[in-house]
Amino acid sequence: MRRPFVAGNWKMTQTLASAVELALGVAEGARPFVGTVDVAVGPPFVYLAAVKQVLGDSGVTLAAQNAYFEEPGAFTGETALEMLTDVGCRWVILGHSERRHVLGETDELINRKVRAALTKGLGVILCVGELLEEREAGQTEAVLDRQMAGGLADVSDGQIGEVVVAYEPVWAIGTGQTASPEQAESAHAHLRNWLQARYNPQVAEVTRIQYGGSVKPANAVELLAQPNVDGALVGGASLKAETFVPIIEAAAGQ
Ligand code: PGA
Repeated sequence: MRRPFVAGNWKMTQTLASAVELALGVAEGARPFVGTVDVAVGPPFVYLAAVKQVLGDSGVTLAAQNAYFEEPGAFTGETALEMLTDVGCRWVILGHSERRHVLGETDELINRKVRAALTKGLGVILCVGELLEEREAGQTEAVLDRQMAGGLADVSDGQIGEVVVAYEPVWAIGTGQTASPEQAESAHAHLRNWLQARYNPQVAEVTRIQYGGSVKPANAVELLAQPNVDGALVGGASLKAETFVPIIEAAAGQ
C-alpha cells in the first residue's frame, strides 16, 4: 500500500507575509490528515526558513523547488543541498517542466542534481512529462522513458526508495486543462512498468507517482482514485489553504 503524497509547489509567488500565512493555513488544515497522507509545501528559497518555523511539528514537510549539485563554494546565485537540509527541507523538486523548458535544464543536469540530493539525504520529487506536440505525435511514452532513464541514471536500487516521481504533462500545467483520469492512469501505469523493468517489481510496487497539472478540489477525487495515482503535485491550487486542503482530504479518502 502506497501512502499518498500531496505536495504544493508555490513556484515564484508569495511575499514573506503571505508565505507565512499560507503555511499557517496549510499546517492547520492538514492536521487531521497527516496521519494518512504525506504533505509538503515548496516555497521559494528565500521563504524556506520562515515557512519551516511556521510548520513546526504540524507534520507538513518542506520541499525546495530546485538545488545545485555542487558542494558549497563559488557558484554565485545557486543554492547548495547542504543549505536546504540546514533549513529543514525534507524534499527537493527536480526536473520541473518550467526548469526544463524555461531555464533549459537537460536530463543530464537534472541527473547530477538527483544523485547529489540523494547522497545528501534529501528525498527527490522528479518531474517528468510530455509537451502537447509530443503527445499529439504519439511520443508520450518515449518522452517519459527518456526523462526517467536520464534523470535516474546511476541511481541505485538502494537510493530509489527516496525518489517520488511526478507525472506532469506540460500541456496541463497552469492551463486549467487537466489530463483525464484515464490519460493520467495510462501514463502512471507506464511509469510503474518502467520502474519494474529498470529496477524490480518491489521498487515498482512501492514508488509513489504523483500527478501534476491543474489539480484542484473539483478534479482531485477522480484523479486520486486511479490505482496508479499516488498523490498530487499542485501548483495554482496550493496557493490557498482553502483549495489545497481539500486536495489533501481527497487523498486521505482513497
Ligand atoms: P498547476 O501546476 O497545478 O498550477 O498546473 C502544477 C505544477 O507545475 O507542479
